[in-house]
Amino acid sequence: MNDIDSLEKEICAAIDAAQDEQALEAVRVGALGKKGNVSEKLKSLGGMSAEERQKAGPVINGLKNRVLELLGEKRTALKRAATEARLKNETVDVTLPVRLSPEARGRIHPISQVIDEITAIYADMGFSIAEGPDIETDYYNFTALNFPEGHPAREMHDTFFFNPDGKGEKRLLRTHTSPVQVRTMEKQKPPIRIIIPGKTYRMDSDATHSPMFHQVEGLVVDKKSTIANIMWVHEEFCKAFFEVPSLKMRFRPSFFPFTEPSMEVDIQCDRSGTEVKFGEGNDWLEILGCGMVHPNVLKNVGFDPDEYQGFAWGMGIDRIAMLKYGMPDLRAFFDADIRWIQHYGFRPLDVPTLFGGLSNS
Ligand code: DAH
Repeated sequence: MNDIDSLEKEICAAIDAAQDEQALEAVRVGALGKKGNVSEKLKSLGGMSAEERQKAGPVINGLKNRVLELLGEKRTALKRAATEARLKNETVDVTLPVRLSPEARGRIHPISQVIDEITAIYADMGFSIAEGPDIETDYYNFTALNFPEGHPAREMHDTFFFNPDGKGEKRLLRTHTSPVQVRTMEKQKPPIRIIIPGKTYRMDSDATHSPMFHQVEGLVVDKKSTIANIMWVHEEFCKAFFEVPSLKMRFRPSFFPFTEPSMEVDIQCDRSGTEVKFGEGNDWLEILGCGMVHPNVLKNVGFDPDEYQGFAWGMGIDRIAMLKYGMPDLRAFFDADIRWIQHYGFRPLDVPTLFGGLSNS
């Protein structure tokens, strides 16, 4: 039985040396697996005489049981050691400040917030959103909107032009969102009721002007829209946007080539304190341009001006954002300073709605 003793010693040493559960499992398979050396011994009992088996049986079975027991003890010990090691590594420093997830830390840029607010208000009135390209042709930006060739109104726009293409045509960065009026009317028959928020570009830069800025355009075309409708839409918009129950407006005659008559709209405010207050006071602030769509613009898209009429308006988004949220300098919008964005603190999941509150202020 010497070989049994030495086999037991060998297995015990291997169990002892196993560093983890995987190594221990290899030892178990080597001893008690199908072709394990203890299993082979057990199998050899079958070839023995009854007398031999009586002697060898208990010895080999004893070995098997001791190996099983040792394996069990070692497995428990290894498990405990592994748990202890993990606990040591996973200690939590409860004095560390809570680290917020990117979604919880992120803030919405005030321009995106204000576009969402504007969209919520007009969507509630039944408007849908239209979009168009930032790079425009002279036709859509000017000609189709009834700017005559060489008319000084073209110069007023301080346009960024691209170099002429092969055909001598100079594309440009759209100076207003109005070209999308034309693009929409070319594709869609009246009734049309759209708003067009988007980026616009002009060669201008100071505390209240940036070479890239944002406008929202509005367009209604049907058979009977009137100036009274323009007034109602603007008044409802301004009350909802500035979150005041009532507000006076002033319509002044103005000029735009694409509307006739044209008007500029001022809203009542109070500028006597450090910040501008809306819906009270004796001051006025210009916020948008508007008018009845010029018959030539309707003709340019193939609508009969004797059958259809409508109104349009354009408003600076950056400007009304500054007014609503008391921002003194437009350039901060485009500085990409995370502290500025955090200061205004618009949360990604606080989507503006008329029933839930626009700004949650
Ligand atoms: N496009 C004009 C601008 O950028 C704004 C404007 C005025 C748009 C009157 C309109 C409008 O649609 O009717 O200065």
